[in-house]
Amino acid sequence: MKAVVFKGPFELAVEEVPTPTIVEPLDAIIRITTANICGSDLHPYEGRAELDAGMVLGHENMGIVEEVGPGVDRIKVGDRVSVPFNLACGTCRNCNDGFTSACLRANPSGQPGAGYGYPAMGPYWGGQAEYLRVPWADFNLLTLPQGTEHEADFTMLSDIFPTGYHGTELAKVGPGKTVAVFGAGPVGLMAAYSAMLRGAARVFVVDKEPDRLRLAEEIGATAVDFSQVDPAEVIMDATQGFGVDCGVEAVGYQAHDPSGEEHPEMVLDNLVAVVRATGHIGVVGVYMPEDPGAATEQAKEGRIAFNYGQAFTKAISIAGGQCPVKAYNRELRDLIIAGRATPSFIVSHELGLDSAVEAYDRFDKREDGWTKVLLHPGSAA
Ligand SMILES: NC(=O)c1ccc[n+]([C@@H]2O[C@H](COP(=O)([O-])OP(=O)(O)OC[C@H]3O[C@@H](n4cnc5c(N)ncnc54)[C@H](O)[C@@H]3O)[C@@H](O)[C@H]2O)c1
Ligand SMILES: [Zn+2]
Ligand SMILES: [Zn+2]
Repeated sequence: MKAVVFKGPFELAVEEVPTPTIVEPLDAIIRITTANICGSDLHPYEGRAELDAGMVLGHENMGIVEEVGPGVDRIKVGDRVSVPFNLACGTCRNCNDGFTSACLRANPSGQPGAGYGYPAMGPYWGGQAEYLRVPWADFNLLTLPQGTEHEADFTMLSDIFPTGYHGTELAKVGPGKTVAVFGAGPVGLMAAYSAMLRGAARVFVVDKEPDRLRLAEEIGATAVDFSQVDPAEVIMDATQGFGVDCGVEAVGYQAHDPSGEEHPEMVLDNLVAVVRATGHIGVVGVYMPEDPGAATEQAKEGRIAFNYGQAFTKAISIAGGQCPVKAYNRELRDLIIAGRATPSFIVSHELGLDSAVEAYDRFDKREDGWTKVLLHPGSAA
């Protein structure tokens, strides 16, 4: 089959690899109809998270069940399914408690949490390919209505719609709340959109990319361009010096100033400054335990020197981590089916697999208009 294969930093190839087959009785093989490029894919792409050459990329996957192992019961051949980016066993202690993002069995390295085509998440190939093997298929797969309707909406269910939603859950967004979302990439936009769905009164979205800020405004958020103004000052002024109830971090360890210089503590500091005393911050932007490309020795070891003293004094609660997709994807699917949510508003490009190399390059450069790329392995470039 054809797949997007990682060769080394900034080096990908779309080439023939062996088609996956059923290995364990609980496996399913999915024929991929859509696989997205994620901001998280850029970490190995840029060499900031180590990935073995030869790995097939892609953790935002959906498609049609092609084959199931003898132990699979609920999922049937021909089902249209969304594949959560977390790969989980369904029976370990963390899975039982609902934390599929910290499954204790799926990752052979022993680290909690597994996934597809990703550094430190196990040997599982990703779905930027014609086919994908999904272990523990009954537990992991979410079924979707048959047909092709809402493909671009449903494809957001594997990662970024639940992840943005998770950010708002951790930040305790609810009716009438004021919210600041830092980062207007796909995840930040999904967090802002989720805040709207949850009835927030006012949502600020901070970034510097004009096309992304425009999308934030289109969904009713107040865009704040950090290359033009001090975002903390603007948000404090707009809330009469009180601050916002809820903050969402959707940038991660590559947070930078307007000149592009990295300051991994910058967004956390901004959030601690603008969130009200006793407020909540949800961190869904990724921070790495090791970052060979970091600017300082401290940051290379994953140490982020943000102002925890101020956070403590303000009694701000900070929670974060990878999203347990299964905790949200059913309900978000049903909002899409009911016509109450259309997360596809962020999609900028739908391309064949052969365009993946160019698409990674342009998405990585945050070129204007490259907000979210969907790859369709079945179609021509
Ligand atoms: N927790 C999870 O489960 C999960 C899931 C998916 C993605 N992620 C992570 O979420 C983060 C965002 O993902 P994405 O796909 O939106 O990526 P992205 O890189 O496209 O978006 C990040 C945005 O942050 C902006 N930014 C940079 N510095 C900033 C600053 N100082 N203030 C405000 N904005 C700033 C950038 O301009 C960019 O638009 C990444 O770290 C990604 O790995 C986490
Ligand atoms: Zn992703
Ligand atoms: Zn488990």
